Amino acid sequence: MKNTLLGGITPQQFLRDYWQKKPLLIRQAVPGFKGLLDPQQLIDLACTEDVQARLVTQQRGKFGLQSSPFEPGDFKGFGKAKWSVLVQGVNHFLPEATELIKHFNFIPHARLDDLMVSYAPKGGGVGPHFDIYDVFLLQGYGHRRWQISTQADQTLIEGAPLRILKDFKVEQEWVLEPGDMLYLPPQCAHNGIAEDDCMTYSIGFRTPWYQELAEQFLVYLQDRIEIQGNYADPDLKLQKHPSEIGREMLKQVADTIRKVKWDDEDVANFLGCYLSEPKPHVFFDGPDKPLSETKFSQAAQKYGLTLDLKAQMQCYGNTVFINGEACPVRKTDYRVLRELADTRALSANTKFTAGIIGLLYEWYLDGFLAPTRRR
Ligand code: SIN
Ligand code: CO
Repeated sequence: MKNTLLGGITPQQFLRDYWQKKPLLIRQAVPGFKGLLDPQQLIDLACTEDVQARLVTQQRGKFGLQSSPFEPGDFKGFGKAKWSVLVQGVNHFLPEATELIKHFNFIPHARLDDLMVSYAPKGGGVGPHFDIYDVFLLQGYGHRRWQISTQADQTLIEGAPLRILKDFKVEQEWVLEPGDMLYLPPQCAHNGIAEDDCMTYSIGFRTPWYQELAEQFLVYLQDRIEIQGNYADPDLKLQKHPSEIGREMLKQVADTIRKVKWDDEDVANFLGCYLSEPKPHVFFDGPDKPLSETKFSQAAQKYGLTLDLKAQMQCYGNTVFINGEACPVRKTDYRVLRELADTRALSANTKFTAGIIGLLYEWYLDGFLAPTRRR
């Protein structure tokens, strides 16, 4: 798949010429790809607890939106209405979906959001819109017409339950077949219409808002600042208006607050925790009958280890971040854990130090990883 995925150009060329810059259509990016699920399996997944899914309906040009939780009955009786179901985080449930995402390892994991899969019968879609994501739209089975526009006008239809562009001016369009893929940079307006029964696999890459990053950094910092002492005013002078905040008080507090400092290490630590934090609906289940640490260690040696599909890891310096937790480790252990983060697995016979086994065992009990299953 590697050579075809980007249509014959290298990842370096793709990053230089297209990434965050302009759309790229790749015919037969994944030759032979027919999808990983059929429509009924996607609907079943949409009805599963803790799955984020949306149902978009379209009747006489008016859009409707329902969000999970769903029951199977929600997907029946549409009559003539056009509709589409969209399921987020499919990579959390299907190992094949996680494998598919691995082909996009030329983009850092810190940018990855998830794999969303949509199904729509003929005519279905979510309407013209733009995303603040980079996205690779890979066609599963069926055909989808993609219309795109680089228009600057981002005015949305007021009061619509979804973000729909008021005035979408199609500049280019293509019909994608199974295995074809369209890359869209953020803000590129697009509209996908099912030509027939159609499933689309969206590999999305997040571009966090600076406002959100800054707010969350301050939340992170508030648990870590340490400033000694308390306010003192032995030289307090009589004020004419007791309700006024005095100049001296202001100066003393402002000077103290200015002592709150941070460096790149703090920012890296924050980023690792923030970006590896699971979304609020994601939960981990530890093993029902956990192995002892000794048995776990033996199994890890013999079969290797595999990350849970929902687990998210980032690394920086000598710190490994897993699901929002920072774990500083020794350099040799860092290399091993970075391999786990890069590839989501460690092979059999990996050399583990005693320290690292203890940490991996904790993660096993938390449900973050497990010995690789024998095939
Ligand atoms: C879809 O799969 O129908 C929508 C994907 C998108 O427009 O981002
Ligand atoms: Co979109």
